Amino acid sequence: MDLISKNTETASWTALYAGRFYDRIAGADLPGEPNILDDWDVISTRLDAALERTSTLAVLDLFSFPYEAMRGVRGDVPLVLVLPEGLDAEFLIDVFGAAAFERLSFFDRVATGNDALWEQLRRRYGWAAGQRIVIGGSHLEEVAEEVGGLLEAEAAPPDFSGEEEYKATSYWSERGDALANLSPHRAICSVRHDLRFNKAMHRVQAAALEPQFAVARGNRAESVPFTVLEVGAGIGRWAASFDLTKTRFCGVDISEGMVRAARANFPGGHFDPVGEDLILHYDDESFDLTYSVTVMHHNPTPSKRTLLSEMWRVTRPGGRLIFQEDFVTGKRLASSTVYPMSIMKFVDLLLEATSGQVVLEHVESLHYPHDDLVRGGLLSLSRLGVPKTW
Ligand SMILES: C[S@@+](CC[C@H](N)C(=O)[O-])C[C@H]1O[C@@H](n2cnc3c(N)ncnc32)[C@H](O)[C@@H]1O
Repeated sequence: MDLISKNTETASWTALYAGRFYDRIAGADLPGEPNILDDWDVISTRLDAALERTSTLAVLDLFSFPYEAMRGVRGDVPLVLVLPEGLDAEFLIDVFGAAAFERLSFFDRVATGNDALWEQLRRRYGWAAGQRIVIGGSHLEEVAEEVGGLLEAEAAPPDFSGEEEYKATSYWSERGDALANLSPHRAICSVRHDLRFNKAMHRVQAAALEPQFAVARGNRAESVPFTVLEVGAGIGRWAASFDLTKTRFCGVDISEGMVRAARANFPGGHFDPVGEDLILHYDDESFDLTYSVTVMHHNPTPSKRTLLSEMWRVTRPGGRLIFQEDFVTGKRLASSTVYPMSIMKFVDLLLEATSGQVVLEHVESLHYPHDDLVRGGLLSLSRLGVPKTW
């Protein structure tokens, strides 16, 4: 997604909300000199100033943090909730469930050294394994040092020096593998930008995608399985939008590193490498919903054509195909990871790859924050045709 560049690469900081423990944390020697906030800094008239240019906010004092105030653009600041020691899951759910845990997005994290507690909470809230920060220390100062050090280390974007001409297959199967280990949350949105920027993109994408996922699911009975395929599933971020106990969620990706990360993140999903020559190893008409998010635009036209016709083939008649991509025109630079294509050209390609056997149901443009170009779009289509089997 390297077309995003304007006004965004400003310096950003880590903040630690120490609340009632301000005196203890402010006196500690912490890596990266994070901004330490007390409960006075987060009253409503001061919160915006406290969050300005904050790339991630680690909450060390869960009990006094104003979760309700983190709405709209404030909610774009990724949170790390540091779970207090010695409290069980039931108590934490009672106190923080509705206020905090249910509101966490894929770009927020939870820090705890307690494996059993993490597992209980992860299952209940559908969190991905990658949303956990494992901490070893028990004193708050040690925890602040560990979390502060980690956030400081991830603040620097991965090194892009020596970049060669972009080729979709090698880039994603080699660099994609490396990014999946090094910087997975950046790899799936904008690798050059911090997590706050990426969480903001995620908010815009989710607002467009999730209602379309709901339309695709329709009002089928709970007992009727919903079958979903994501092409270019990355580290599995969108699996979190489905109830994996009621959905057969499959994801394919060209990067084996991404597939490994997705499997670890969502054990309830089924993630596999895409087949050779981009063939999908699924039977005809096997999914109710097939979709891609920011994948097609990274591929040249012949690959797009193959993926589109394959996605159509594996979708059942009456099922949905959704594409959320950057539809842009312009000349392509050799180092860019995006192959520009207008929405009209994409629709032409889709009609050609499916012999016209689709009908356009919904079109929407996306306006990402911090960027005054409308640069994303969503298309939702139904597959036409008579089922092979009844
Ligand atoms: C920008 S990431 C988006 C990941 C995911 N869709 C999301 O929104 O979180 C693009 C993903 O598409 C994968 N990809 C790129 N080209 C592909 C192709 N031709 N076939 C399968 N996966 C591909 C990459 O490996 C990467 O995981």
